[in-house]
This record gives sequence, C-alpha cells and structure tokens, in this order.
Amino acid sequence: MTIVELVRPFAETLDLAVLVTDGDLDRPGPTILYANSAFARMSGYPVAEILGQAPRRLQGPGTSRQAARAVTRQLRTGGRFHGVLENYRKAGEAYLCEIDVRPIRGPDGQPTAFIAFERR
Ligand SMILES: Cc1cc2nc3c(=O)[nH]c(=O)nc-3n(C[C@H](O)[C@H](O)[C@H](O)COP(=O)(O)O)c2cc1C
Repeated sequence: MTIVELVRPFAETLDLAVLVTDGDLDRPGPTILYANSAFARMSGYPVAEILGQAPRRLQGPGTSRQAARAVTRQLRTGGRFHGVLENYRKAGEAYLCEIDVRPIRGPDGQPTAFIAFERR
C-alpha cells in the first residue's frame, strides 16, 4: 500500500487541508503526490492541477524567503516545520497559512515522504 492510499481515506473528509509530497527536497522538488479537497478549496487549485507541482507554486511576492527556506532546513535536519507562510490562491489572493509538515520515514529512518496539515 502506498502512502497516498493510506492517507487518502483519512484525509478526504477532513476540513483541514492535507498535502503529501515525495521525500526529495532538492529543487525542483518536492513533488505533490496528494492533496485533499480541503486543500483545493483553500488554495483554489483543482487537485488535478496541483499534483506533480512543488508546494513552492503556492508562493508569491509577499512570501518570506527566510520562512520558506526554514521549511527545507528544518525538514533536512530531521525535524518538523510548524509556522506561518504567506500563500497565494490560484487567482492571486494572498492568505496567511499555518503549516505543519512532518516526515514519513521508511524502514531505514530516511524520509520517504512529507505530510503537511495546512489551514488559514
Ligand atoms: C509537504 C510540504 C508542504 C509544503 N507546503 C508549503 C506551502 O503551503 N507554502 C510554501 O510556501 N511552502 C511550502 N512548502 C515548502 C516548499 O516546498 C519549499 O520547501 C520551500 O519553498 C523552500 O525551498 P526552496 O528554497 O527550494 O524554495 C512545503 C513543503 C512540504 C515538504
């Protein structure tokens, strides 16, 4: 069973936005593997359109580079990122987004994916 198959039935009915990416933090990654309907409502992106993109796609002119880099830094050092970033809806409207990202680890302890819980 894949991570997406495992997460989907739990996440689909949540009001909280959920994103799952692969474990590759190097640009152009990470790649979005799953987004729930709450994420589509919050961001304005249809799920089919956001799959295969990087979460960086949600950034805009007001997004703090320092805060965005902190996500990668904290995930690379094995931790969790919990903070607020300025995201942009598909139509361009900015929203402050509380983002909680955690690694999903494989048997060798390395992150194979990341899961984010997001709300505005
Ligand atoms: C699961 C997950 C969800 C993320 N969600 C967001 C998000 O909603 N908004 C955002 O600006 N960055 C988000 N990021 C962070 C970006 O993907 C990326 O780590 C950040 O832009 C820093 O990397 P960069 O310097 O290569 O752009 C998320 C990362 C992960 C792994």
